[in-house]
Amino acid sequence: MPKLGVNIDHVATLRQARGGIEPDPIEAVLVCEKAGCDSIVAHLREDRRHINDRDVIELRKRIDTRFNLEMSINPEIVDIAQRIGPDQVTLVPEKRQELTTEGGLSVIKYEKKLVRITELFREKGIDVSVFIGTDKEEIRAAIYIGIGTIEIHTGEYSLAQDKKSMDREFKKIKSAAEYAMSKGLIVNAGHGLNYTNVKRIADIKGMNELNIGHSIISRAVFTGLYSAVKEMKALCS
Ligand code: PXP
Repeated sequence: MPKLGVNIDHVATLRQARGGIEPDPIEAVLVCEKAGCDSIVAHLREDRRHINDRDVIELRKRIDTRFNLEMSINPEIVDIAQRIGPDQVTLVPEKRQELTTEGGLSVIKYEKKLVRITELFREKGIDVSVFIGTDKEEIRAAIYIGIGTIEIHTGEYSLAQDKKSMDREFKKIKSAAEYAMSKGLIVNAGHGLNYTNVKRIADIKGMNELNIGHSIISRAVFTGLYSAVKEMKALCS
């Protein structure tokens, strides 16, 4: 039964729509944790389009479960993350124009930087995860540089328009997850997972955690955040 990490970026997105103080991401943390989530995910983007510097300070103080800070490998953000001290960082690629994280981070391309950054976080006792695609070369590179956790990008699976392509993407995720687990990695997954497509991913044996944001916050508009998290948590079991 995988754990559930709830990404609360969209609560901050709504707040930023009016530039005020509501809805408050901290209030979301309290509700998500009460409903049984296992961690809180927030992405401090370089352009601060939703979560901001003050949020990450407050989140660190108020999260009782685990704080998983999603972030790019930009030096300014790395510096902030070291000072904040989340329980975990999830390293992602970041493009200014994208609406959401579009792909995995290439461990092969950024190997040298990742070795240095991983070491910095390790010294502070912060777990490091990289958000990657299903390419086994990338998984091998993550193992090679000593990264203990990966999060497999489920975006292509989530966007699949028909059963055939969904099955194809699912097979890639399952095979990558099983390969990584066989090599001793902790495997998480996320991006685009929702109430109808999550079950198959949750059923992959040994899956550690699913990180889900958009679908939960969307459902919360109609059912309330507590029910939305409870329902997703039940689907992960
Ligand atoms: N995991 C990672 C690494 C992400 O970048 C995101 C999007 O911020 C998510 C999970 C959650 O994706 P979604 O909001 O589509 O559930």
